[in-house]
Amino acid sequence: MTTPTLAQMAVEVLGTADGRVKTALSRAHAATWFAARAEGRDIPLGRAQPPLRPARPARPELLDPRDVPRRRPGSEQGRIAMLHAVAHIELNAVDLHWDIVARFAEIPMPLGFYDDWVKSADEESKHFNMICDCLEAIGSHYGALPAHAGMWRAAEDTANDLMGRLAVVPMVLEARGLDVTPGMIDIFRRANETQAVEAMQVIYAEEVHHVAYGSKWFHFLCGRHELDPKETFHALVRRYFHGALKPPFNEEKRAEAGIPPDFYWPLTEIAPAR
Ligand SMILES: [Fe+2]
Ligand SMILES: [Fe+2]
Repeated sequence: MTTPTLAQMAVEVLGTADGRVKTALSRAHAATWFAARAEGRDIPLGRAQPPLRPARPARPELLDPRDVPRRRPGSEQGRIAMLHAVAHIELNAVDLHWDIVARFAEIPMPLGFYDDWVKSADEESKHFNMICDCLEAIGSHYGALPAHAGMWRAAEDTANDLMGRLAVVPMVLEARGLDVTPGMIDIFRRANETQAVEAMQVIYAEEVHHVAYGSKWFHFLCGRHELDPKETFHALVRRYFHGALKPPFNEEKRAEAGIPPDFYWPLTEIAPAR
């Protein structure tokens, strides 16, 4: 049997609906990729058309964000809702990283670009499973509650723009995760939910790298096209991201991930209509 190309592996993950099955496949493909890389036997990148939207399980029900019931973090139900929302974000993140691997295959990129996103997809798969384990340990599961319907919008909006994808997904959305995760860890710590604290700490440590990969490849492409990174970032976020960025920002972790303050502070005000 010949090994599938990286793009075929990506499309296979995107086409798998069940969360546990999707993440198991994602981790297996990542292991295959890195085993080949370690042996100096590169798997061809190949071409395969990713779906406009990834396959999703029948549950959770996907609702407009305004219709998703509000979280009450002080209660156990509130903490379950928070874990459920994180699981949903992680599952989308698995698909986002495999999507960037397959969707922009016509743009020549160094192999390190694929290493970074395959590693990120592997980590998101682990994050999803860890959070599902937390939910199941307290008598719930992924799919028990409704979830946000709009999470794939950033991917659709940037389906034809790799620099826009890097600006919006890792450098805005995943960077936002760095801002809000310490507060979530505090909530679980106060409730003595050790398993959730440990899972969220792993997520917090690894997400810095995903943001850093975004910044690295965004700057790489700015260099290739002789573009000013800050101005280009502002223009792309204003084009593809709907709304203003919300302080407070985790300036320390953003700096660690290669995102300086003059990238995000000017985007805290609603951009003028274009
Ligand atoms: Fe994650
Ligand atoms: Fe991530």
